[in-house]
Amino acid sequence: MKIRFLLNGETVEQDVAPTATLLDWLRETRGLTGTKEGCNEGDCGACTVMVRQGGVARSMNACILFLPQLDGASVTTVEGVAGDDGTLHPVQQAMVDLHGSQCGFCTPGFIMSMATAHLNGARDFDDQLAGNLCRCTGYAPIIRAAEAAADQPVPDTLRRDPPAPLGDAMMPETADALAALYAAQPDATLVAGATDVGLWVTKGLRDLDPVIFLGRCADLQTVTQTDAGLRIGAMVDMTRLRSLMQGRHPSYAEMIRRYASQQVRNAATLGGNIANGSPIGDNPPALIALGAMLHLRRGDTRRDLPIEDFFVDYGKQDRAPGEFVEAVTIPDQPDHLRCYKLSKRFDQDISAVCGAFCVTVTDGVVTAARIAFGGMAGIPKRAKAVETALIGQPWNIDTIATAQTAFDADFAPLSDMRASASYRLETARAMLARYFDDLAGNAQSVLEVQP
Ligand SMILES: Cc1cc2nc3c(=O)[nH]c(=O)nc-3n(C[C@H](O)[C@H](O)[C@H](O)COP(=O)(O)OP(=O)(O)OC[C@H]3O[C@@H](n4cnc5c(N)ncnc54)[C@H](O)[C@@H]3O)c2cc1C
Ligand code: FES
Ligand code: FES
Repeated sequence: MKIRFLLNGETVEQDVAPTATLLDWLRETRGLTGTKEGCNEGDCGACTVMVRQGGVARSMNACILFLPQLDGASVTTVEGVAGDDGTLHPVQQAMVDLHGSQCGFCTPGFIMSMATAHLNGARDFDDQLAGNLCRCTGYAPIIRAAEAAADQPVPDTLRRDPPAPLGDAMMPETADALAALYAAQPDATLVAGATDVGLWVTKGLRDLDPVIFLGRCADLQTVTQTDAGLRIGAMVDMTRLRSLMQGRHPSYAEMIRRYASQQVRNAATLGGNIANGSPIGDNPPALIALGAMLHLRRGDTRRDLPIEDFFVDYGKQDRAPGEFVEAVTIPDQPDHLRCYKLSKRFDQDISAVCGAFCVTVTDGVVTAARIAFGGMAGIPKRAKAVETALIGQPWNIDTIATAQTAFDADFAPLSDMRASASYRLETARAMLARYFDDLAGNAQSVLEVQP
């Protein structure tokens, strides 16, 4: 397919294979080897580039970014971040001045994450840089460099407007066009943010054909307040979802802060995180606990179902050929939600267990409970026996202790490299006690170790 985008200020029009990655193309076709290949699966940030599209600048991992996703975008690599006269970008100069680089392998990726944060005025550098790994310098000088550059002006070269996209039949621009195309070609692979599909190509070495790209469907990116609640389009990415949840369900937003890295959150979509049916996806437990409705569409036929019913069995979802996720609605409700993501690392790690709790207490008695877990079964699953043990009971530590014994009835988790079955069960029970403490105002920050 033919695409058009801006690369370091130069317009590129190119015929590309649908699943050619930006990283391979930069290094092998353009000789732009400043963008490094570390893991080739979105984990290390060595391949970070800046992508401006639709008025938004994002850091992204070039290794799992397919070229057609860039139609109509402006891409800046480390070779293009300095001024036209060679003046270093403020973050480059600060990295030199503050000794932010030793072997230098990670440095281009850091520079691009820092330059994107700088352009966006972001100051949460621990989060902005959590997706960039450095094995030798240590992070303190790098964070100091980001802080030192923060108030310097943004070079004009980074504000160039992207060109108009060329468009292609396999890149529909509306949900209607997508519905018609997918119904006619139900064997096609849908590509949203490609943070899963990208790995099928780079690690699974799969040939995907045909491929339908969802990135240009503007109506799948809309968010609307309806009578039923907040309707969020399937193509809303994790960065945006995090800010949407900030005011409504802050614990959900905080959980998304720990979802992968800034680069992955900038690409990964809500629809992709649901449709992939992963038992350890982080959104489904929170959405199940909130009683969210899923909106599915095949051709002109639409249907809605409670999101928990979408996950039928391991690897099996209630989705017909040619049917896609159009949106999700989260009902308006008082915020009782707490999400607990347990993973081996704090940042940039898939959950071993992810628990989401939503309990309503009226006059000291539990009147409603929705509790869901990822990582405890072959699908994201509600803890119905635990909920039953809570409902109608006084909200106190004795009830919690009784309800903790019900986890065995709900879950028989697996042991794998992330956690053993017994650890998963133990930690799920502990999360219920933590929820009780949280609502009582006794939450402990997991970032602080106290004697
Ligand atoms: C480094 C790294 C870290 C990660 N960390 C986390 C993490 O912490 N938590 C977590 O939950 N996940 C994590 N993931 C997994 C991944 O980010 C998510 O599953 C992501 O949400 C997938 O969304 P996407 O838009 O990238 O989907 P894609 O990769 O584009 O697609 C995923 C699947 O969904 C299908 N699909 C996409 N959109 C639709 C739609 N609208 N309707 C129907 N089918 C659709 C695709 O055909 C494909 O089968 C991580 C991935 C990487 C690479
Ligand atoms: S090469 Fe590691 S994130 Fe792309
Ligand atoms: S400077 Fe060597 S990996 Fe970061």
